[in-house]
Amino acid sequence: MEFFFPGWTSDAPAFDPAALKSLWLKRRTSLDALDQSGVWRFRELLPHIANPEEHVITLREGNTPLYRLPRCACAVDVENLHAKHQGMNPTASFKDTGMTVAASSAHQGKFRWVACASTGNTSASMAAYAARGNMRSLVLIPDGKISWGKLSQSLDYGALTCQLRTDFDGCVRILNELVRQKPVYLLNSVNPYRIEGQKTAAIELMEQLAWEPPDHIIVPGGNLGNSSAIGKALLEMRELKLISRLPKLSIIQAHGANPFYRSVREFGGKKLEPMTADTLASAIRIGNPASWKKALRVLQATGGEVEEVSEVEIAAAKAEIGADGIGCEPASAVTLAGLKKLRRNGFVKSGEAVVLILTGHALKDPDFTIKFHRGDLFAGTSVAATPDDAEVAQAKYLQRAPLVLDANLGAVIATLDAAEGNSK
Ligand code: F0G
Repeated sequence: MEFFFPGWTSDAPAFDPAALKSLWLKRRTSLDALDQSGVWRFRELLPHIANPEEHVITLREGNTPLYRLPRCACAVDVENLHAKHQGMNPTASFKDTGMTVAASSAHQGKFRWVACASTGNTSASMAAYAARGNMRSLVLIPDGKISWGKLSQSLDYGALTCQLRTDFDGCVRILNELVRQKPVYLLNSVNPYRIEGQKTAAIELMEQLAWEPPDHIIVPGGNLGNSSAIGKALLEMRELKLISRLPKLSIIQAHGANPFYRSVREFGGKKLEPMTADTLASAIRIGNPASWKKALRVLQATGGEVEEVSEVEIAAAKAEIGADGIGCEPASAVTLAGLKKLRRNGFVKSGEAVVLILTGHALKDPDFTIKFHRGDLFAGTSVAATPDDAEVAQAKYLQRAPLVLDANLGAVIATLDAAEGNSK
């Protein structure tokens, strides 16, 4: 199922674009909970929830910052590079923008239980919104394959958390069976309410850019709900004359979890061959993406590209984003790694404006970060795409391992002086 809004197929837009823009802006100063949400502020483009005071569950999601990335811009030779940081949402990932809408729909439908299969962020978000809305939540996650940060969130928010001895795709299969037998409300991104909520990241982005679209938007691709949502928003905004041209939406996958990349490159998007996925960017360790057809449509409609990146490229890009003082989780860093490739092959030009969508906060997966800086990220991993030593060595210059010193001033001063000498 997908939402299609009334009036958009006729010649005359159903809304006056200038009036909408000023209404949305005005809501930023409101004291009303719905107006303070960076999702419900744009409710004219969202499904209607009856009795919002009773049913809308909001944690004031959205309202995420748009940051310049000066060092990364220099490194990739793109003058105008920004990151829209969706990790700055209440549960620290972009999932909250869709979850507020879908959880509200579950509440309106008087469901007692909501459920999802997840690589960790959807489950953290769902558990929080279910708790706020007084609903029970059932989480199916792959045992041992999600980060502690994400697992700890769903425990704290009170979800019934089941670690299944399978991967994400196996969890989805079981969940799909379960919802046929039990009255639980499915909150995976095939839920159209989630897609609608996630559209607002693109709307808010355009507002932050004074409705002047960038040339490129780059997103990570896992289950492909987010790229579908952002693409849908772009197409709708153009239809409504909120923007006058479309940015190209490009989707980046990890090499070890690249079924969509292969679908487009090898089969021209005619079919998708599921695979057993393997990448240290655990959020996007997905081999059978549910929304690949929708993502293909928006990729083609906006003229975007699809790329894949290696494990070392992901780790290096994450450290580079971190060095700009921003930080993100590994899955988000595929955007910068992908941009480097798209610059090299000429798809993105130096003078073009680029926005990376950072999907999760750095603190979601500190284990990855510490291992990278200590230099043992790739040691003994079962990742199918285990990098060779030469490739790993290329990222060495980004590693900043912690130093253990004796507790005396002289040792600290000597270290400071050495660091200053090195940076000259
Ligand atoms: N980035 C992060 C941090 C994610 O958690 C996900 C997906 C993606 C990117 C990919 O987005 O699936 O819409 O293409 N995480 C899901 C989860 C699958 O269960 O948390 P997508």
